[in-house]
Amino acid sequence: MSKTYNIAVLPGDGTGPEVTREATKVLDVAAEKFNFKLNYEEYDFGGERYLKTNEVLPVTAVENLRKHDSILLGAIGHPDVKPGILEKGILLKLRFELDQYINLRPVKLYPGVDTPLKDKGPEHIDFVVVRENTGDLYTGTGGVTLKDTPHEVAVQSAVYNRFQVDRALRYAFEYTRKRNKKNTLALCGKTNVLTYVYDLWDRAFNEMGDRDYMDITREYYHVDATCMWMVKNPEWFDVIVTGNMFGDIITDLGAMIQGGMGIAAGGNINPEGISMFEPIGGSAPKYTDKNVINPLAAICAGSMMLETLGEFDAATAIEKVVMEVTANRLKSLAAGRMGMGTDAVGDLVAEILASS
Ligand code: IPM
Ligand code: MN
Repeated sequence: MSKTYNIAVLPGDGTGPEVTREATKVLDVAAEKFNFKLNYEEYDFGGERYLKTNEVLPVTAVENLRKHDSILLGAIGHPDVKPGILEKGILLKLRFELDQYINLRPVKLYPGVDTPLKDKGPEHIDFVVVRENTGDLYTGTGGVTLKDTPHEVAVQSAVYNRFQVDRALRYAFEYTRKRNKKNTLALCGKTNVLTYVYDLWDRAFNEMGDRDYMDITREYYHVDATCMWMVKNPEWFDVIVTGNMFGDIITDLGAMIQGGMGIAAGGNINPEGISMFEPIGGSAPKYTDKNVINPLAAICAGSMMLETLGEFDAATAIEKVVMEVTANRLKSLAAGRMGMGTDAVGDLVAEILASS
């Protein structure tokens, strides 16, 4: 009997609905070809809903999402809503409530894709960032005193406990071993300044490595140096593990060296629960409904979702088709310069997948 997966689809704002449409189009072809079933249920969470109802997330949202096997997200962010409301109220809330403690962000340059790095090709840019996704500056720990006075004080703290650090490190070590490329895990931190938080990470990293992962080579880079080497020698990296804030920053850099937001995908993963996959480019409001946005990042997010669900062959097949399309069929990955529309890119991937 074939397996059925229940997927919650959150198209969200801006170009989110356009790209999730193409992603589910491709996922349906993969399901047919590899003999499993996908049932989708759509949720309208996002800026439009908030502006109409004044409610960011319905109280039943998390409870309903828990009933699904996985979540596919388009984009959250609306130009008419003050920054922070939707991001904190939807995206971060779901990451926290569903305890998606890993943000997995592959940085891989596909064939035919332009990178701004001179003399670097797909053989140089292929690594994965394991970003811890529940702690750090993102916990909102802190506050303000003397607001609106010349002496206003604002504090926002980087918070980590050993449990959070250990589970992220465990995932990263296991991922590095399973990936089996260079078998090298780099910790990205700032032990020279953040002598509490990254000292905790550093000790936990080395203790776990010594105890359970002597087959994995360990490296350490400060976050500023990580940025430098990602540009100068990206081929050094295999898997990077880091805290939430540094992970946020270095993965935008990563997205740029792999060809931009049109191709960068990520997964908010709870290895024991429900995960959520997204193109990391945001809602790109100025391109909304113009049929110009690149759906490949959303399609890649779909492929990551299948991998996490255990449909490895289908996930690999989609990625192969994406590589074929970037190598031979698209003029550019940039919105409006692909040489075809959003829907046509989805059709093309679906068609090649069906006939491969
Ligand atoms: C990301 C985004 C989010 C983050 C924002 C929108 C809250 O930048 O997914 O990287 O900071 O994590
Ligand atoms: Mn970010």
